[in-house]
Amino acid sequence: MTALVSGKIDALTGETRVPGDKSISHRALMIGANAVGETRVHGLLEGDDVMATAESLRALGAEITKLADGTWQVFGCGVGGLREPASVLDLRNSGTGARLLMGIVAAHGFTSVFTGDHSLVGRPMERIMAPLRRMGASFVGRSGGRLPLAVTGTDAPLPIVETLKVASAQLKSAILFCGLNSPGVTTVIEPSASRDHTETLLRHFGAKVEVAKEGALGRRIELTGRPELTGQTVTVPADISSAAFPMVAAIIVPGSRVVFREVGLNPLRTGLLTCLEEMGAKVVATNKHYQGGEDYADLEVSSSALKGITVPAERAPAMIDEYPILAAAAACAEGVTRFEGVAELRVKESDRLAAIAQGLAACGVKVQEGEDWLEIHGLGKAPKGGATISTQLDHRIAMSFLVLGMASDKAIAVDDGSPIATSFPGFVPMMNKLGAKIADA
Ligand code: S3P
Repeated sequence: MTALVSGKIDALTGETRVPGDKSISHRALMIGANAVGETRVHGLLEGDDVMATAESLRALGAEITKLADGTWQVFGCGVGGLREPASVLDLRNSGTGARLLMGIVAAHGFTSVFTGDHSLVGRPMERIMAPLRRMGASFVGRSGGRLPLAVTGTDAPLPIVETLKVASAQLKSAILFCGLNSPGVTTVIEPSASRDHTETLLRHFGAKVEVAKEGALGRRIELTGRPELTGQTVTVPADISSAAFPMVAAIIVPGSRVVFREVGLNPLRTGLLTCLEEMGAKVVATNKHYQGGEDYADLEVSSSALKGITVPAERAPAMIDEYPILAAAAACAEGVTRFEGVAELRVKESDRLAAIAQGLAACGVKVQEGEDWLEIHGLGKAPKGGATISTQLDHRIAMSFLVLGMASDKAIAVDDGSPIATSFPGFVPMMNKLGAKIADA
């Protein structure tokens, strides 16, 4: 455990580039491992989650080498060509790593065993296991469909049509990855569009993926199985879900102005920007461009007076990881901010609704919590602070409260800052370079 403390500061200024997108980094390695020939990834996130995926893919037979900072090489085994791992696959803190890899190994006729850290072994896997069972895989796990668990895959997964109940990119991607080795068309229907990096990258590597609208918000995705995937070059944008932390810091600390370079602005990931705009934050996008199937821009963010808003349930898939940091902004805003339809936050790296509610209350902010909603009574000024927050192995809870500490009257500490390395290695030095005062507690 590494306790950290973040104290009140004058301003954040400068320009920076946050690390590579976590979702795209996992997928680039995984699809590279299913392709034939060389894949080069530029700007890979070297966070612990992605490193856990790289180690597991190596154990499954892919050759993965770091060539330089952020530049990685993958020699894959082709669709259906991975081999049985000699030992347990430990995905540590990574739900994305575990769930997407389960989809991949479910399409191979061998047995693999998955485990993870204290947070991951508490997270629900049944939602992944049910469709993968229908495709032909079998599982033996702990009660409640939790890790550690063993999966025995099949070399010929059935091409299924799966209608998802929750908009989950992890679930969608696991089914599509299993469908890669299916001798037919695998169809996933999602109730509301979730991040589409899997679809974009699969196409980039040569797969046929067709996407159509389904209902008002949903999508129907059809993947033709057994494509010839060939190694490609992938460039990873800076992660909007990581930029979110210093962005909100710059908004709530008076006198700040920070520029973020090359941020990935996939329209299915930008719900936070919509909220911040509605709250009155000054965020200006320049240098907009489109590269490798993804939108990019530089974002110039300045401190702003915020007002409370209602965040509708339909926006949740586009900002599912950004609620903890939006809660820090909402605490400083004038008036009430309400999050609706956010039950999914209870099954993230921690129960995030509970963690936000308890943490904000300890910092002097009134919060009301329901099973799938949260109301934050913003103070219209910086909160009192002066609390130590239990991060519960959740990187985003740790970073959110360290950001809130920068604006609070009294410093805010987190009991364990080590999970930050899962998604945002270098967070503390980067923040301190911009003007933060984060130190070991
Ligand atoms: C992710 C999907 C989301 C998100 C996670 C990354 C992905 O999870 O919370 O951090 O890369 O597919 P769900 O699919 O469970 O919503």
